[in-house]
Amino acid sequence: MTVAQSLGAAIARLNAAGIPDAPRDARILVAHALGIGSDRLTLALHEELPAAAEAALAAALARRESREPVSHITGTRLFWGRVFHVNSDVLDPRPETEGLIAASLDAPFQHVLDLGTGSGAIVLSLLAECPDARGLGVDLSLAALDIARGNARTLGLQDRVAFSRSDWFEAVKGKYDLIVSNPPYLAETEIAGLSPEVRLHEPRMALTPGGDGLDAYRILSARAPRFLTPQGRLVMELGPTQATDVLTMMTEAGFTRLETRRDFDGRNRVVMGLWPGHATG
Ligand SMILES: C[S@@+](CC[C@H](N)C(=O)[O-])C[C@H]1O[C@@H](n2cnc3c(N)ncnc32)[C@H](O)[C@@H]1O
Repeated sequence: MTVAQSLGAAIARLNAAGIPDAPRDARILVAHALGIGSDRLTLALHEELPAAAEAALAAALARRESREPVSHITGTRLFWGRVFHVNSDVLDPRPETEGLIAASLDAPFQHVLDLGTGSGAIVLSLLAECPDARGLGVDLSLAALDIARGNARTLGLQDRVAFSRSDWFEAVKGKYDLIVSNPPYLAETEIAGLSPEVRLHEPRMALTPGGDGLDAYRILSARAPRFLTPQGRLVMELGPTQATDVLTMMTEAGFTRLETRRDFDGRNRVVMGLWPGHATG
C-alpha cells in the first residue's frame, strides 16, 4: 500500500469512528508512524508504507478510535513555537494559554513563579523568551513535575528553572516579580459535558478544583501578594465567564491596574494586576 492509500484508509477509519476532523488527525498519525513531520507527508505520498510503519499506524488508529488525544499518541504538543512532551499526567497546553504568555511578556521580569505548572509549558516558554530570567514551577502532581523537568532538559532550560511539589503556595519561598497561573477552572458540573478526549484522558485535577470552579482564584488572589515584590504582577488565565468574579477577588486583595485580555472570540481569558507593595494582612 502506498502512503496515499494508507492515508485515505486512515481517514475513512477515523470518520467511521466519529472522530472530529478525521483528515487532520489521520495526516498527523500517518506522518508519526513514518517518523516524519506532517509538513513532509505530501512528499512521501507516492512511496510504499513500510511494514513497521503500517503496524505503528494500526496501533495509533486504534488508540485514536478510543478517543485518546492525538497529542498522547504522538507524545508531543506544540506551544508558543516549541515542542513539549505530554501524556495523560498533564493538561495538554492549549492555544488560549498563549494569550497568557503574550500578556506576561508585556513587561520585563527576573523571577517568575508558575502555579500549577503541568507540562511546564508556561514557565518554560517565558524563560525561553527571557534569557536573563529564572523560574520556579510548582504543582501538586509529582507525575506532572517529572514531565516538566524532562521538558526543561529538552529545551536546555534546566539551569534556570526549578520544579517542586506544592499545594499552591504551601511550599513556595521567596519573592517574585511575576506570578503566572493557568489553574483548574471548570465547575464540577461542566465535567460531564466535556469531550471524551478531555474527560477520559486529561487529569481531573488539571480541569476542575471542584464546586463552582473559582476556588483556585480565591486562593491565588488572596495569597499572591505575600510572594510578589512591589510592582510585581499576577497574570492568570480565566474561564470564559469568570472575569467579573476574579476581578472582584483581585480588587479585594489590593491589586491595582487590573486588566483583562480577550481571545480571538472576544472573550476575556486573561486577567492581570499589579501589586502596589503596601503591607499585607
Ligand atoms: C489547567 S492545568 C495547567 C497546566 C499548565 N500550566 C498549562 O497551562 O498547560 C492546572 C494545573 O494545576 C495543578 N493543580 C491542581 N491543583 C493544584 C494545587 N492545589 N496546587 C498546585 N497545583 C495544582 C494541576 O495538577 C495542573 O497541572
